[in-house]
Amino acid sequence: MQKRNLLYAALLSAAVFLFSKCNDQKPAAIAANFGGYESQVKWGEHLVLSGGCGDCHTPKKMGPMGPVDDSALLLSGHPAQMPLPDIDRKMLEQKGIAATQTLTFWIGPWGVSYAANLTPDSTGVLAWTEEQFINCLRTGVSKGITGNRRLLPPMPWNSTRHLTDDELKAMFAYIKTIKPVKNVVPQPLPPVAPPPAAK
Ligand code: HEC
Repeated sequence: MQKRNLLYAALLSAAVFLFSKCNDQKPAAIAANFGGYESQVKWGEHLVLSGGCGDCHTPKKMGPMGPVDDSALLLSGHPAQMPLPDIDRKMLEQKGIAATQTLTFWIGPWGVSYAANLTPDSTGVLAWTEEQFINCLRTGVSKGITGNRRLLPPMPWNSTRHLTDDELKAMFAYIKTIKPVKNVVPQPLPPVAPPPAAK
């Protein structure tokens, strides 16, 4: 009889041990919630695609209905070899905002800005840390290094600053998986027109 009690006790503690193991795994399963996607990279892809990053960072080619993404150059920024268009910058800076048909080159009262290369190449974000990426899209400073210059329009960092750490980490994880493209994007140019008079 005593032997049987001992056996029951042993079985019970084994069951309790196994049950506690099952419970241990639950919080981890809940923590790995990538916005309903199966992985962090897939979630990041969704955020980058739906967040419109390619609208400016992927050069366009002309199709019958207008500009379409050049998928071979996904997120690689303004093509360095493209010459400055022959336009009246002063008039444009004073009267409006303009972009090239690639949508990667912008002119406005701030001068000229070029969409950055976001691919994991040495000329893009290969050497960036996750912290730099978060800081860049949160505070709008170049390369996410505090003290660097402020990013120029039309980079929408005023919108990206509302993304959570987890969302920005997922976007960075996705960006690290895309094709690296060698492209040294030019530095921005200061305005040629005098700044508009303050009202
Ligand atoms: C409307 C156009 C536009 C959209 C949309 C846009 N960007 Fe940008 N982005 C730019 C331009 C132009 C620059 C360069 C600004 C400068 O040089 O000051 C830039 C710069 C950046 C930089 C800084 C690179 C560096 O060297 O510091 C990062 C990172 C970046 N964009 C990521 C993104 C991400 C991620 C998204 C999507 C959520 C996005 N951008 C959407 C136009 C855009």
